[in-house]
Amino acid sequence: MGFNKEKRIVLRHYGLVNPTSTEDYVNKGGYDALKKAKAMQPMDVVEEVKKSNIRGRGGAGFPTGLKWSFTAKITDADQKYVVCNADEGEPGTYKDRLVMEGVPHQLIEGMAIAGHAIGATKGYIYCRGEYPNSQKALRQAIADAKAKGILGDFDLEVRSGAFAYVCGEETALIESIEGHRGEPRYKPPYPGVAGLWGKPTIVNNVETYANIPAIIENGADWFAGIGAGNYPGTKVFTLSGDVVNKTFVEVPTDVTLREIIFDFGGGIVDGKRFKAVQVGGNSGGIIPEELLDTPIDFDAMSNIGMTLGTGAVFVMDETRDMVDVVKCMMKFFEHESCGKCTPCREGTFRLFKGMCKIANGEANANDLATMETLARVMNKTALCGLGQAAPTPFQTTVRYFAADYQKRL
Ligand SMILES: Cc1cc2nc3c(=O)[nH]c(=O)nc-3n(C[C@H](O)[C@H](O)[C@H](O)COP(=O)(O)O)c2cc1C
Repeated sequence: MGFNKEKRIVLRHYGLVNPTSTEDYVNKGGYDALKKAKAMQPMDVVEEVKKSNIRGRGGAGFPTGLKWSFTAKITDADQKYVVCNADEGEPGTYKDRLVMEGVPHQLIEGMAIAGHAIGATKGYIYCRGEYPNSQKALRQAIADAKAKGILGDFDLEVRSGAFAYVCGEETALIESIEGHRGEPRYKPPYPGVAGLWGKPTIVNNVETYANIPAIIENGADWFAGIGAGNYPGTKVFTLSGDVVNKTFVEVPTDVTLREIIFDFGGGIVDGKRFKAVQVGGNSGGIIPEELLDTPIDFDAMSNIGMTLGTGAVFVMDETRDMVDVVKCMMKFFEHESCGKCTPCREGTFRLFKGMCKIANGEANANDLATMETLARVMNKTALCGLGQAAPTPFQTTVRYFAADYQKRL
């Protein structure tokens, strides 16, 4: 079957327009959607996005139109903000970089449409510190679009990320833009009501904004009819690990994991057998072969107790031992925890130490049971998604790859 199910909305201009040429983007129909949106009433733009049923592509899957409507409704704010989450910190994920470096104007256009819809004249793109090329591409594109008068009164700025995974969490990101240490805030209030400098702020992912021009251009019904009904559109996936084609692919959201790995990905390297796949980055669940026929839409993944996350697809062959894999992942979270809340600060440290003990053959069944209790406490009590989701690789492998643990106890 190969790549014949591929469908490009986010990456429709990728590789076909010169990212450094505004003219080229305009000649291919770029910024037509912004013109169309500006001729519409702001609330009608919000309604169109709502009707399209697009949900956030940054991990949490929140309905985008609904998020915009909360902020659009606020009439007594002297300033509102449009923020783009371009921190892209999940290991194995580079979908947002493709947009920023390949089609920067499409992101800018999506954000300018959002500015018109919610009544914001200022926007920020918080771009991963490790992405200097993305920052450069965006700064050039913004300067050129401004100089050509395309953005009107919408002002847009790029802010460099702080080299910290937690800064991708939307309230930590806002703290970081404000110049503070990147630590999450207590919610509520949500950013839509009180975000950047206390003003109403929408925060969306790069891929979410990059879908907006096509939705305005082709209409909500067109978008709502693609892929899975409750999570329509396409999703960009980045494949890594023991898969033949270490590449990216954009597909409708009703394609299955098996199709992504074996058709688009070309299967497992060196003719080995498939063992597991982690979807969504380090905080995603590790999935066994029997669940591979799950469609990759947000709800289908949560129905099997997994997450779609950012769309990273990390494939592991039969030689991978889940204890070693999870130990590495727990080291990552122990390092990235910001330390603001106790469940995450202590929990990530203790899960990592626990995994080291298991890997060294020094743990027993009681130790494993204690780690499982700790993991559940973290799921329920950590302040933000980092601590809540950090135990996921551990929990899903204990459930689906118990033999790897039993061998070491
Ligand atoms: C620890 C952590 C890291 C995150 N990193 C990112 C990220 O790099 N990019 C992103 O868009 N969302 C990230 N998120 C999700 C954001 O908090 C937020 O849900 C998202 O930016 C909303 O945009 P969307 O509705 O368009 O998906 C992260 C969340 C957590 C808890």
